[in-house]
Amino acid sequence: MDLGPAALVAERNVAVIESQPVGRRYHRLLLDAPDLSAASRPGQFFHLLCRDGAGNGPYLRRPMSIWRCGPGEALGFLFHVKGKGTAALARLRAGDALSVVGPLGHGFTLDPSWRRILILARGVGLATLAPLTGAAAAMGIAVDAVLSARSQDDLMAEAFAGASGARVTAVFDAGGTSEVGAVDVLLRERLAQARPDAVFTCGSNRLFLLLQRLAAEFGIPGQVALEQQMGCGLGMCFCCVRQVRDEHGEIANLRVCAEGPVFDLQAALAW
Ligand SMILES: Cc1cc2nc3c(=O)[nH]c(=O)nc-3n(C[C@H](O)[C@H](O)[C@H](O)COP(=O)(O)OP(=O)(O)OC[C@H]3O[C@@H](n4cnc5c(N)ncnc54)[C@H](O)[C@@H]3O)c2cc1C
Ligand code: FES
Repeated sequence: MDLGPAALVAERNVAVIESQPVGRRYHRLLLDAPDLSAASRPGQFFHLLCRDGAGNGPYLRRPMSIWRCGPGEALGFLFHVKGKGTAALARLRAGDALSVVGPLGHGFTLDPSWRRILILARGVGLATLAPLTGAAAAMGIAVDAVLSARSQDDLMAEAFAGASGARVTAVFDAGGTSEVGAVDVLLRERLAQARPDAVFTCGSNRLFLLLQRLAAEFGIPGQVALEQQMGCGLGMCFCCVRQVRDEHGEIANLRVCAEGPVFDLQAALAW
């Protein structure tokens, strides 16, 4: 089942329902935008005008994956407070207005015949992959997730899995369990014991390359959500181009905002 693209794309001022820090470095926003939330699909994103309640913030919008969406759900974003745009977003308070453009891009695809998927996420890449857990659960597809984080404080397993019933295994920089060699061993066990029908990743170039290699070795299809700095977010400026192999194996320059952000795992090239 193609979970995107959705039909509706809108520029809208919407009200903040909730604005909360999550752990030491992350923040979540819930927005009152029922039609946009219902039209959004896992893996799509919005382009946010990052201005706080006093109107302070950068000129250019910032892309942000949809973390929560669906009929009757607030539209949610979960982000790392990194620079001036995300800092301005984190200063928003309930009742403030936020200008959003979206939902944008092509999201993830789930096949109704699948019984199990494996998700490998690092850091805030879990925000991008989180809505996939709910979509999979609704289709009766079991989710096996490996989440990589600096430490327990940065994990956000609850923010990832919600009530989806996903089986989560955490690996951490502290202790070395998130090193590529250790994750390689862990994933090989998983792929051999409970072979998934597809694999998904976001948030780390090293883990993307690892999963690409393992998925090719085990003959399992996969999808990756790429991140690239963006200008327009609408396919016009070509500032978000990444190299991706086309169906003939030729390298094509594709726009992450328009042809992505989700690409076939074997077609996407590392940066
Ligand atoms: C499709 C898409 C979905 C995204 N979803 C999320 C999400 O769900 N949660 C989240 O926390 N972040 C997400 N990002 C990244 C987010 O857009 C950037 O962190 C944000 O734009 C930074 O803005 P800023 O003004 O706070 O920082 P800036 O002041 O613009 O930059 C701070 C630092 O971050 C670097 N940076 C900025 N944008 C990116 C980027 N796209 N990739 C890598 N480095 C970058 C800059 O080079 C600089 O070093 C997503 C990006 C894309 C393209
Ligand atoms: S950000 Fe302008 S084309 Fe993608």
